[in-house]
Amino acid sequence: MKVTKAIIPAAGLGTRVLPASKSVPKEMLNIVDKPAIQYIVEEAVAAGITDILIITNRGKGVIEDHFDHSFELETKLKGNASKAHILEQVEACSNLANIYYIRQKETKGLGHAVLCAKSFVGNEPFAVMYGDDVIVSEDPVVGQLIRAYDKYGCGVVGVKEVPRKDVPKYCTLDVTPLEDKIMKVHNIIEKPTPEQIMSCYSILGRVVMPPEIFELIEKTPADPKSGEVYFTDAMLDLARRGQLNAVDFNGIRYDMGNKLGIMQANCEVALNHPEIGEDFKAYLKKLAATL
Ligand code: UTP
Repeated sequence: MKVTKAIIPAAGLGTRVLPASKSVPKEMLNIVDKPAIQYIVEEAVAAGITDILIITNRGKGVIEDHFDHSFELETKLKGNASKAHILEQVEACSNLANIYYIRQKETKGLGHAVLCAKSFVGNEPFAVMYGDDVIVSEDPVVGQLIRAYDKYGCGVVGVKEVPRKDVPKYCTLDVTPLEDKIMKVHNIIEKPTPEQIMSCYSILGRVVMPPEIFELIEKTPADPKSGEVYFTDAMLDLARRGQLNAVDFNGIRYDMGNKLGIMQANCEVALNHPEIGEDFKAYLKKLAATL
């Protein structure tokens, strides 16, 4: 079945980027001239996704405003021929896809956030695109995962090798190769100790799941310490049934949930930006010479 639906969980607290994320959701922090979440919606659309559910919570109404028309602004821009290209970009935000919203009323973890999408998804495979992970690629990463889902008919996680010292911040996977860039997943350990590391492959930002994942999330108990329902626990159940593959995707991933990730994203996207790329490169070279 064709994957046409995606969910973007964007209801986290963003504590690693406070105070910036106190009143501006981290998913709305900009990369040069667009908020992070717009890059994610554009990636989904480029991969053929037509319906997107964004999981929000209190204080994230600004995300809805961004993907809506802004009549006053558009009317003003329409009256100024020299700003036609800006008008085009502003109007494009509201015409990207069918975008829906639901609130996660309590911040109880990514698994709980995904479960909020159960009735939106129904009985179809769907993509989950983490709201603070922007991945830049010519070939949209979610599309790379969808192709693997279509080929093997089971869940797919997007993975990359991360430096060994960073694996304990993410998760570790036990995998065996199926073909170039695609692996079978046998085991997942979330936030492993250094001794528990099975490989340096970690799940980063994109997955495509069968609808059966919802039953598995429902059976997943909340972590007694944090009270959060971990999405990886449900994905591990899928792996144990032999129903989970991993795609080592092509793309550069920026973690907009941490300060260094935000700076890297802005710097690298700015260097390739048609409007400011050349000037920014000259500025950066001059600056680098002083370091
Ligand atoms: P994170 O774990 O990075 O989000 O979740 P966080 O809780 O905001 O992180 P801290 O506070 O800086 O450590 C990855 C994605 O899942 C969403 C987040 O918004 C982020 O886009 N999320 C997380 C939810 O939607 N609901 C949750 O309960 C937790």
